[in-house]
Amino acid sequence: MQTRPFGKTGESFPILSFGGQRIVDEHNCTEEEAIAIVNTAIDRGIRYFDTAWIYSEGQAETRLGKVVKHRRSEMWIATKTSDTTRDGARRQLEGSLIRLQTDYVDEWRLHNVWDHARLDAFTGKDGALEAAVQAREEGLVRHISISGHSDPQVLVEALNRFPFDSALIALSALDHFILSFAEEFLPIANARGVATIGMKVLGLGSLTHDVERSLRYSFGLPISTVIVGMETMVQLEQNLAIAESFTPMTDAERLAFFKDIIHLVRPEKMPWKATDWENPSEWIP
Ligand SMILES: NC(=O)c1ccc[n+]([C@@H]2O[C@H](COP(=O)([O-])OP(=O)(O)OC[C@H]3O[C@@H](n4cnc5c(N)ncnc54)[C@H](OP(=O)(O)O)[C@@H]3O)[C@@H](O)[C@H]2O)c1
Repeated sequence: MQTRPFGKTGESFPILSFGGQRIVDEHNCTEEEAIAIVNTAIDRGIRYFDTAWIYSEGQAETRLGKVVKHRRSEMWIATKTSDTTRDGARRQLEGSLIRLQTDYVDEWRLHNVWDHARLDAFTGKDGALEAAVQAREEGLVRHISISGHSDPQVLVEALNRFPFDSALIALSALDHFILSFAEEFLPIANARGVATIGMKVLGLGSLTHDVERSLRYSFGLPISTVIVGMETMVQLEQNLAIAESFTPMTDAERLAFFKDIIHLVRPEKMPWKATDWENPSEWIP
């Protein structure tokens, strides 16, 4: 699998990485299956694992931790705080470290920064960013990150406020057309050496009828790596096969793909662009 540098960290990762949200009962994945999928992912070359305590209230982290315990040196672990306050975020980090069975995480993210008010809360006085800086000084966290899938300008503003090491952003082909992180965020992040991780590449299910072209589109962007949420061995094998044989789309292939999916660029197919996922009328565009 092709590998790429991860910002200024000195690390490089394969283009396919592991989204750890779905290795839980809620997605019909047993603990035994979850452990087998994560072990196979590592055996096949995947190194980067994304998770968060809010994924099934700790179950996703707990299951990942059962592999981390045995294979820590082979894994890059990114987890998150959804609590915007310094003290609340610190408590989340301490819980994550216990569930993940490790003394430190490689990356800790400010989770889902959808608007300027949430960014202010994270980065303001007594906000979670203060906890992140302190945790980095203590060696509990190696790199500080941010994530967002709604509005690229909020994350551009975040980079102006703090030298984040990385950003996890929505980079599906559907995102190309609306509040585009590819157009508005990637050029700025790349110029500053900020590592970039793509998500929503299968559109949370909206693009699973065309996995190969969806992954090829996202792998072809100027990004560090792509996380895909995988909850079965079949999905892992299919995504690995596409990543291992990756060649960039030609302009003609990309245009043909866009023509086939543009009808999906609408609120009910892209709920991550809404401030309220249950209410498409709150769609930001
Ligand atoms: N703000 C944030 O920081 C944030 C928010 C959400 C998620 N995340 C992270 O991002 C990761 C990826 O999640 P996402 O939201 O971006 O979703 P996604 O990767 O666009 O979609 C994941 C879904 O695609 C389906 N899938 C995966 N491989 C497949 C294959 N080969 N064939 C058919 N279907 C396949 C599975 O759905 P089925 O259920 O249909 O099998 C899977 O649950 C998560 O695991 C999590 O780690 C971060």
